[in-house]
This record gives sequence, structure tokens and C-alpha cells, in this order.
Amino acid sequence: MLEHLPRVDLLDGPTPFQRMARLEAATGHGSLWVKRDDVAALGLGGNKLRSLEYWIGAAGRAGCDTLVVAGAPESNQCRLTAAAAARLGLDCLILHGGDPPACEVGNLMLNRLLGAEIRFLGPVDEAERGRRARAATEELAGAGRRPYLIGDAAVGAIGYARAAEELARQARAVDLPLRHVVLPGSMGTTEAGFLYGCALLDLDVTVHLVSVEYPADDLEARIARIVEDAARHAGSPAAGWRRRLRIHMDQLGPGYGRPTPASRAAVGDAARLEGFFLEHTYTAKTFAGLRRMIADGTIAPHEPACFLHTGGVPALFGQVARDPSLLDPVAAMRPGRSTARRSAARLWASRLGAAAGGGRRAAGLPVGGQPGVRGEPGLPVAGAVAVALRARRPFASRPRRCIRKHPSAPWRNW
Ligand SMILES: Cc1ncc(COP(=O)(O)O)c(C=O)c1O
Repeated sequence: MLEHLPRVDLLDGPTPFQRMARLEAATGHGSLWVKRDDVAALGLGGNKLRSLEYWIGAAGRAGCDTLVVAGAPESNQCRLTAAAAARLGLDCLILHGGDPPACEVGNLMLNRLLGAEIRFLGPVDEAERGRRARAATEELAGAGRRPYLIGDAAVGAIGYARAAEELARQARAVDLPLRHVVLPGSMGTTEAGFLYGCALLDLDVTVHLVSVEYPADDLEARIARIVEDAARHAGSPAAGWRRRLRIHMDQLGPGYGRPTPASRAAVGDAARLEGFFLEHTYTAKTFAGLRRMIADGTIAPHEPACFLHTGGVPALFGQVARDPSLLDPVAAMRPGRSTARRSAARLWASRLGAAAGGGRRAAGLPVGGQPGVRGEPGLPVAGAVAVALRARRPFASRPRRCIRKHPSAPWRNW
């Protein structure tokens, strides 16, 4: 499909398509699957790799030698652009909104390792960041380089039309009549591409977008624009994408990048039930949305459903460094009572801290990653370990130094 468009292979084959048997058991649903776009051989994986295949394809066709990309310091797109540039021997310039954080973790740390040139623009909004990225691209061209600015949504969306085809093939291979696919609703590139692919292939699926950023009308309008542009770019119109689309607003909570009780719980559930990781901006809310849809019957127990894991796991490290309460099991269990949450957390920390003096075994915590060994009932293991470690080496004083606030879209990490 769409073979005429220039593309470089960054994924080295299909991403895994796996059954979530323990989630099935926990929810009473008969057929739950995950498409692991968080798993890839390059740059720790993620949805943007599929878009990069086409962005860099276009860059290659234009004879470019430098990739320019802009985003927040936690941007998954910046990390994967830097990784692709490294693998292909291209230069990479990353423009980050905000100021350099005092401590570099997660994506930002990886970008350094990948050898990208990194510039911080100070507190700019997204529009200004885009203008500065175009100016930097022109500046490079003026200096004799051949830069390509990453991010054209119509080009990037094609990667997810291809993902729809890949997923349909994997479902067919196991005789699965997939009825629902659940993915994050954000800027629209991934979502529009996936819907465009479903329409081109006339797949009989409902595509559920769990909005993590925009109101439903805005998200749908963004997607409509991108589908139209992508169809024009590919020269293949596709009707019927809209009737496959359902947008869910019930997981957004207080807004983009702000966790909810359900998303906090989702991070622990995915890890403990299925052994994969979510982060708090995109995938945790989406997984929480999947659970809600199963619980309220939007996804009927006999209708096969797939969670499209779009990756972003390296961002989890920065998120937790900034806000250690994200690993706090008590906070996840008692939504909306922050003072009570904090004191309850302190109580846990002191209890576990006392025990932690004698090591993990003395604390009743799992030792050395032994399979099947659990901590206290009702206390999520990852949270317990974190709280115990925090008590041993006062964690609360460290991450604060990493916190930078800037007025516009503080933690946007696309
Ligand atoms: C992990 C993850 N999931 C989903 C998205 C949303 O993708 P899009 O910007 O195409 O809507 C992003 C964006 O960066 C992301 O990093």
C-alpha cells in the first residue's frame, strides 16, 4: 500500500502483536491484544518511528543531510529523530522550548548520547517554536547545509496508514476479527494516518481515540485536515474514515500531561499484569480508556480489541523524577485528597524506610527480580520499591532541582 511514496526502513519488520491474557482475566473480556509500537530496534521505539520513515524518505529524495526537529525537552519525536539521524549518518539539530533543566534524564539524556546538537529556545509557545525551527532551517541552508524540517503531518501520517495495514495482516494471521483499536488522541498525525489506512483498506473496525489533549471538536477537525492532506499527498482519496472514529473525552482529567487517578493506576496495571510500561501523558490515559470501555460495555466482551501502544516510555523517567508521587500507590488509591495522600504516603515511606534499612528482603519486598514474588498485598511492587528507596535516600529533595516551569505548554512532549 502506498508503495510509491519515498520511505526508509527504520522498523526492521512488524512490531509485535500480543495477546493480553492477564488483562483478559482481570476484566472478563474474551479477546484483548496489544500492538507494541513501543518496541523497535531503533531508539527505544515509539509511534514517531513510523512517521520518520516517510519524513526521512522525503528528506532523502530532496538530498538532505541534516534533520531539524523541535519539541519539548521530553519529546519522543526529538529522541527518535536523533536516533534515526545517528543510524543513517545524518546530522540532527534539536530545538527545545524552555530552558536547560538542571538534571537531564529520559529523552533529553538520550538525545545527548545520540550526538544531536541541542539548542534551548527559552520560554516560547508552540507557534514561536515552529517559527524558530523554520528560521534555523533557513539559516542552515544559508550556510550551505541541506536541512529537512521534521513534522509535516500529511507526510508523517502515511506511516500510520501503513501501521493499519500491518495490524490487519497480523490479526488475519491469527484468524482474529479485530473490531476495536484504541489509541491516544493528540496532535492528530498518528490518528489521522491510522484512520486513513483503515479507510483505504475498508477495515471493519472502530477506532477509539482517547483524547489526552484537545476537545473532541478540535481533535476531529485536526484529523480531518490531516486525512485530507495525506490523501492528496498520496494521491489516493479515502472515504469513510469518519464513521470509524469515536473520540473519548473521559480520561483527559485536568489536562495534557496531568495524570488522573485512572491513569496512575493504569501505569501499574500494565506493568504488573502484562509486563510493559506506560508513561503518564499519552499511553496511561489511553490504557485507562480501554479499561473504561470494557467496563461500560462500549467494547463488548466478545469483540476483539487492540490497544495500540505508541511508546514514549523514556519520558516516564523524567515524569517520575519531577513528580515522585507518580510512583506512590497511596496516591493512586485515594484520588483527590492530596494532603491526606501525602501524609499517608509519608506513613508508608516511614514504615518501609525502617524496614529498608535491612535491605529489600527485610522490607518484605521482592528480591532480585524473582518471578512471582510479590510485596505486601495491595501494595504495588514498583511503587513499594520506589517508596522504600525514596525513604532510604531522600528522593524528594533531588527531583525538585529538575523542575523547570515555563509559561507555555510546560510539559508538552510530542
Ligand atoms: C508516546 C506518544 N503517543 C502518542 C503521541 C501522539 O501522536 P500524534 O502527535 O501523532 O497525535 C505522541 C506524540 O508525540 C507520543 O509521543
